[in-house]
Amino acid sequence: MKLWDGRFKEKTDPIMERFSASIHFDWVLFRQDIEGSKAHADMLERIGILTSEERDAIKNGLDRIREEIEKGELTFTSSLEDIHMHIESRLIEMIGDVGRKLHTGRSRNDQISLDMRLFLKERVGEIENNLLNLLRIIIDRAQRDKEAIMPGYTHMQRAQVVTFGHYIMAYYFMLKRDLERLKDMKKNLDVLPLGSGAIAGSTIPLDREYVRERLGFTDISANSMDTVSDRDFCLDAVYSVAMIMLHLSRLSEDLIIFSTQEFSFVSLPDSLCTGSSLMPHKKNPDSLELVRGKAARVIGDLFSLFTLLKGLPMTYNRDMQEDKEPLFHALDTVMESLVIMGLCIKEMDINTQKMQEAVFSSYMPAVEMTEYLVLKGIPFRDAHAIVGKMVRECENRGIPLYKMDIDDMRLFSSVFDEDVYGYIEPDNILRNRKTIGAASFDEVERLIEREKAYLNSF
Ligand code: ARG
Repeated sequence: MKLWDGRFKEKTDPIMERFSASIHFDWVLFRQDIEGSKAHADMLERIGILTSEERDAIKNGLDRIREEIEKGELTFTSSLEDIHMHIESRLIEMIGDVGRKLHTGRSRNDQISLDMRLFLKERVGEIENNLLNLLRIIIDRAQRDKEAIMPGYTHMQRAQVVTFGHYIMAYYFMLKRDLERLKDMKKNLDVLPLGSGAIAGSTIPLDREYVRERLGFTDISANSMDTVSDRDFCLDAVYSVAMIMLHLSRLSEDLIIFSTQEFSFVSLPDSLCTGSSLMPHKKNPDSLELVRGKAARVIGDLFSLFTLLKGLPMTYNRDMQEDKEPLFHALDTVMESLVIMGLCIKEMDINTQKMQEAVFSSYMPAVEMTEYLVLKGIPFRDAHAIVGKMVRECENRGIPLYKMDIDDMRLFSSVFDEDVYGYIEPDNILRNRKTIGAASFDEVERLIEREKAYLNSF
């Protein structure tokens, strides 16, 4: 017996029942569904559709159903399609005909939007907490390794000397933007859809303002058709999450490379690596590879949603039921990936010796040497050409720039003085950089302190 089959002569084909069921994934919305129904029942009592006894019977019944589901006592069946139908039929079964009044002025179309908005508000809060936790771990790590010099890369070629603190803070700022993005997206999420009905609202004077207040939304949706066809808030959430995954994936990629024997800048904790079934010596960075791999699927979730919605006519179409799996998958994946990354950043060892060797055996100070010449009055382009020739010469001789003696340097430009050696010394470079946001000891220190205060505000 279905709750909607009044106009049907024939029974639903079992394969159609299986095909259209969403209960195996939307059951996770049961708490939100029940919370929404209780608020709806309170409202129906206020406007005289339910007596207070009927309302109480409905609300008690709903509470008992929540307990049943929590204990795994309610059996789910495809013939009841989704979580909304399961709860409503169980209610009618439990409390009798009074239960048949609950759905007054409501459609599953505004109901599902409500459930998902309530669910997302909670889950986004949890993701924010995990993100904050990771940001704190990154700050601690930056603090610990703020003096550790390392090469910074462009095109995977050694580019300029930086510190591990500055490097890891780059990820801090990416993820901080992600945190702010999550906060921004909550504005569009925080809108009450209930009361829009199937598509056009109701002739029953539903008190939407009361329900808004009761469920803690800041706003009420303004157009009933838009409300039941809108999944922008899901896309906003998955986009925000996909961006986090993108950042985690890039960080994973870095750490995978840095942990190779070729680099040996970092050593990942055993607890997050796995061995090979054949090669006894292997220690593989699977946790990070999986973060990188899962990022692909989350980005796929975003495109599933875009594709799902782009051709839909107004208003609700059943296609929209397919929004839940990508949404839930994206949320679950980011939660775990943030934890894994936090453990990794906290527990990995960094090899300062190796990173230092990579700095000293490079031509990276060529940039500062050029700046040295500029400060002595040489036009930048000329300085660039002079140092370029010196690099070529040093390369031929197999020595770093600082090993060229001053007389040889003067063959390239007469303005070179003994003070050039100090100027291109890596630690001095990190002391001398003056620009806001630069890789310099002071600037990294300043930003760590500033961002600690930011994190303490939560
Ligand atoms: N399970 C449905 C979904 O997730 C709920 C809305 C159903 N509405 C309808 N008119 N069949 O989209």
